[in-house]
Amino acid sequence: MKEAAGRAAVDALVKSGMKLGLGTGSTAIHAIRRVGELLAQGVLSNIKTFATSFQSEIECEKLGIPFFPLNSRELSGSLDLCIDGADEVDPQNRLIKGGGGALLIEKVAAYACAAFAITVDESKIVDTLGTGFPVPVEVIPEARLSAGKALEKLGALVTLREALRKAGPVITEHGNLILDIRFASPVDPVAMESEINRIPGVVENGFFTRIRPVVYIARSSGTVETRN
Ligand code: 5RP
Repeated sequence: MKEAAGRAAVDALVKSGMKLGLGTGSTAIHAIRRVGELLAQGVLSNIKTFATSFQSEIECEKLGIPFFPLNSRELSGSLDLCIDGADEVDPQNRLIKGGGGALLIEKVAAYACAAFAITVDESKIVDTLGTGFPVPVEVIPEARLSAGKALEKLGALVTLREALRKAGPVITEHGNLILDIRFASPVDPVAMESEINRIPGVVENGFFTRIRPVVYIARSSGTVETRN
């Protein structure tokens, strides 16, 4: 399903000459692979990409997909299209992202692109955000406890994200920590996206509500539905 969603978005949206943001995760990687395949076949050409994490950068390196810093002369801080995955998608196509810990750069890319596409399997479709999959909050290390307490005051249950196969917490691409938060009852994700970012030491959070993507939803029946 993840592969079907990734391929469908690339086939429908990516055109030669585009400046393309490439997301992170086990679904977005299929979109990257499809871009690599189409470049190798000569179907696409002159694509300039921005990779949102070490994972996507390494995949681009493997596949020979040209990637550049977002501030480079080639990209000059803007993208035509960004294709990514998500952890939850609500009926208005608002999202929770950051399960892979790349929310900061993913949000910079998403909010800097002219068109935003999300690729998911049907398990990611939910009625409300914030009570199921935890919302990641990236904080500078010094704010681990103070930001955690401020988040609790907003009604959240807070957990420091622990690393796998390394003792201690996850360290993000920018040397920060991730607090995963959950709410007991549904919250207003638009208000919460802004409110959380007002806490000193918070760098970014995983609510994506100010840009509405087109969502490619792969179904277990084998079809891919497009939801605008
Ligand atoms: C990474 C992300 C991912 O896109 C999100 O976690 C979905 O990942 P997957 O496709 O592996 O389920 O936001 O920071």
